[in-house]
Amino acid sequence: MFLTYLGHSAVYFGNDNYQVIIDPFLTGNPQKQVEIAELKVTHVLVTHGHADHLGDALELCRRQGVQLIANYEICRYAQQFGVENVVALNVGGSSETPFGRVKMVSAIHSSTIEAPDGQLLPGGLASGYMIEFFHRRLYHAGDTALTLDMKLLKNKKNRIDIAFLPVGGTYTMDVYDAIIATKWLKPKIVIPIHYDTFPEIEVSLKPLQRAYAKGKTLCKVMKPGTTVRGSYEKKK
Ligand code: NI
Ligand code: MN
Repeated sequence: MFLTYLGHSAVYFGNDNYQVIIDPFLTGNPQKQVEIAELKVTHVLVTHGHADHLGDALELCRRQGVQLIANYEICRYAQQFGVENVVALNVGGSSETPFGRVKMVSAIHSSTIEAPDGQLLPGGLASGYMIEFFHRRLYHAGDTALTLDMKLLKNKKNRIDIAFLPVGGTYTMDVYDAIIATKWLKPKIVIPIHYDTFPEIEVSLKPLQRAYAKGKTLCKVMKPGTTVRGSYEKKK
């Protein structure tokens, strides 16, 4: 399995057969490291309608066979722009994919979609995703405030392998709330996202790294464009 952080909330992972991108905001992303034409993708997941998350999703999903997983309103919107392969979920619902289950989980945030003509359209509820990728458990929180609902995601027998948590504040939780979220989620690794992209969300990660140094969670700060690789078939 490879995992690449593409900056902001854009996370790209997969193996030879399946490649998933979450919140593919590349065009206009100051942290952008790759061109979307270079990305091989089979599944696109979108957490909510804001442009820094919907990003290049429609363009990617107009490619042959690429599947969009998003909330009902975003899927309907995408269909109007020529996307055919959609799986519309709502919070609490899930989809069985060839690599495992993708569950839409709650987030506290808004989800307006800005149409090309500048109109603001209702984009359903914002969400996060709990994803199984060949038995690895990944949690992408999307944009969210700290919420008690996160406690529902912890599973004692089957720990979250990687949690992608927004830490930039202003529009989402900040580093201090992320520390609390980590205590509730108890993931093996936290990868901070949604920070330093714009002046409003520039932060120091030091408090986060200091807090994690004591706990049982590893904080892995990934520079945009970096990739890590490991065996995707998790040993039982
Ligand atoms: Ni947002
Ligand atoms: Mn955002």
